[in-house]
Amino acid sequence: MDSTQAELLKEFNPYIGVKNGKLHLEGLSLKELAQEFGTPLYVYSASYIRERIRAYQKAFPGALVCYAVKANFNPEVVRVAGEEGAGADIVSGGELVAALKGGIDPSRIVYAGVGKTVPELELAIEKEILMFNVESRDELYVLDEIAGRLGKRARIAIRVNPDVDPKTHPYISTGMKKSKFGVDFETAREEYRLARELKNLEVVGIHCHIGSQLLDVSPYREAVQKVVELYRDLTDEGFEINYLDIGGGLGIKYKPEDREPSPEELAREVLPLLEGVSAQIILEPGRSITGNAGLLIAQVQFLKDKEIKHFIIVDAGMNDLVRPAIYDAYHHVVPVESKGREHIIADIVGPICETGDFLAKDRRIEFLERGDYIAVLSAGAYGFAMASHYNVRPRPAEVLVENGSYRLIREREDYNYILNTT
Ligand code: LLP
Repeated sequence: MDSTQAELLKEFNPYIGVKNGKLHLEGLSLKELAQEFGTPLYVYSASYIRERIRAYQKAFPGALVCYAVKANFNPEVVRVAGEEGAGADIVSGGELVAALKGGIDPSRIVYAGVGKTVPELELAIEKEILMFNVESRDELYVLDEIAGRLGKRARIAIRVNPDVDPKTHPYISTGMKKSKFGVDFETAREEYRLARELKNLEVVGIHCHIGSQLLDVSPYREAVQKVVELYRDLTDEGFEINYLDIGGGLGIKYKPEDREPSPEELAREVLPLLEGVSAQIILEPGRSITGNAGLLIAQVQFLKDKEIKHFIIVDAGMNDLVRPAIYDAYHHVVPVESKGREHIIADIVGPICETGDFLAKDRRIEFLERGDYIAVLSAGAYGFAMASHYNVRPRPAEVLVENGSYRLIREREDYNYILNTT
């Protein structure tokens, strides 16, 4: 790996380094970690996570940054974000438990999701979380009933759907009219009035989220403008809106040529619109906190040359990292150790019985041999979090590194774990 390639990797994550051709993260050799813990292996850089939380806090003074646990739910990853003062954005009872296990105080947890179940709502009400981001009228009634039964009051925001095009992959655009998320502004106004009548609910906020992996921050402007309009109307109607939750969605670098918007850029776009708004801003970043903190390390099993293609078959598949298979997502792949060999064009594929099981297609990469390791970049968000047991494959181990030290934060699963059906 030459110095320009090493510089390029630093643009993904400044804690990636190259020493004697070998890839390091926070000073630790990824080859040695792979040898110690086996592969596939997720490795996350804690310093990077800390830095990202701080970047949001600096760009949005006084805001509450609620890390979106869905991106990476390992409680030790959540803990790092929490140590920097982050709260948590959750979408399930399981994520609530992950956030609590990671040390996040319930008073800093917001809960979105179109299909919250009664046991999930009960748990969140019991814990007295900061706010429920309610997605339908039915949910308001159910929440009111449960809160009453438990002798509590539930704080709520209505999730509005600002109907803006976030210009991202259609599967992860959440703020357009046709999506299942949130309600339109007219319905939101009615639901706020209804919520005011329900005695076990307390209206405290407005929520919106327009999509994920936004490399252009301009769609936020339109969304926030609409939310601020609603804020002013509600305030005029006598509602006390304490929180404006503008969601997450800031994109990250996946391709070397991607330009990643910073939290400052987002702030420049939206903060001027929030002048005179006394509510606290809540942000829900997920990918932009953990995405480039993490790499997936895999080992080359076999090489296969077909007439029209080279295949590099590794031990990580779509069950470990599904993004290429379902979104046709690009993840940058580099050898963990460069041996200065020539480059070839190849498909890097996994062992799963599906043609969609690939990590990279027609990719230029240094020639690799059986036993060599590769690193898949930008795998810290929606990597392990979306891993499955497909083909009865145990999910990978996870290691957290920080400033020269490392810690196993999840053991590799074994067959018993998956097959323990009783
Ligand atoms: N808040 C809400 C309400 C969300 O729905 C999401 C993501 C987030 C926050 C965090 O968004 P982020 O900052 O991570 O973009 N599996 C897909 C991503 C799905 C995102 C869904 N919602 C992927 O791998 O690209």
